Amino acid sequence: MGPLITVLTSIALVTCVVGAGVKAPVAASKDVGAPTADTCSSVEVKCKNCTHLGVCIAIGQPEIAMPCLGAAQYCTDGACSSKPSSECSGGFSSSFSCPPTDGHYPDPNNCRLYHICVSKVAADYSCEANQVYSTNTHSCVRQTLQNTCQTVNCKQKNGQYSLYPPDHRYAFFCLSGETTGIMATCGNSQEYNTDLNKCQVKCSKEGLVPDPDDERNFIECTATGIGINNYEQVKRQCPNNDKIKSNFDPNTLECVVSTSKK
Ligand SMILES: *[C@@H]1O[C@H](CO)[C@@H](O)[C@H](O)[C@H]1NC(C)=O
Repeated sequence: MGPLITVLTSIALVTCVVGAGVKAPVAASKDVGAPTADTCSSVEVKCKNCTHLGVCIAIGQPEIAMPCLGAAQYCTDGACSSKPSSECSGGFSSSFSCPPTDGHYPDPNNCRLYHICVSKVAADYSCEANQVYSTNTHSCVRQTLQNTCQTVNCKQKNGQYSLYPPDHRYAFFCLSGETTGIMATCGNSQEYNTDLNKCQVKCSKEGLVPDPDDERNFIECTATGIGINNYEQVKRQCPNNDKIKSNFDPNTLECVVSTSKK
């Protein structure tokens, strides 16, 4: 019996690791009248698969499958959790609503969680206990004084966007004091302005930055010399007159002849 249980346990383990869509080959064991993978060998609670607990209340009794529901939809380390284990990451689509552009996005309520949107379908990924998600590296990084655990605060922000504290390129819409899946994302060198409700250029170094509102314009960032990260931002327009039309090219950071017939 011992080796059989070992085999069945490893099948169960493989099922958990592989996750959705793969059927465990347990049917063959049923015809020998042996205990199935669902028979308890000890009194314990463990993860049956990525979304269900397996609860054992007595040895030899069938294991009771309990679904993980609501926000704690994942089974991680023997308990229901909002964070998927690393093996279960990506296997299930999440309730996170993806913005129009695919990519990796932070979670508004959990600094150790992030979402990968592919074809506008999100999958959840989680970081280890001593890590936080970083929007700079698009990955889990060690939690430090620079990379702290912060979440979106919706207090007194009902019906408004609230900034994602570690990175102001992101803002989440708040309703009834809670974050929603509605997210505003700004490009690089931009920040979401919660007063104007749009992305605005925020200089982070000296040089030129495109104007998000008008492709003919660019913004010149010049250090003020007062403190660090203080820049004077001057909006300028590429040459445009009766004879010539030009736009600011965000790649070369230069004015080039306009191709659109504006
Ligand atoms: C997880 O286990 C439950 C209970 O046995 C089952 O209903 C569910 O389909 C399983 N999910 C996956 C993805 O295998």
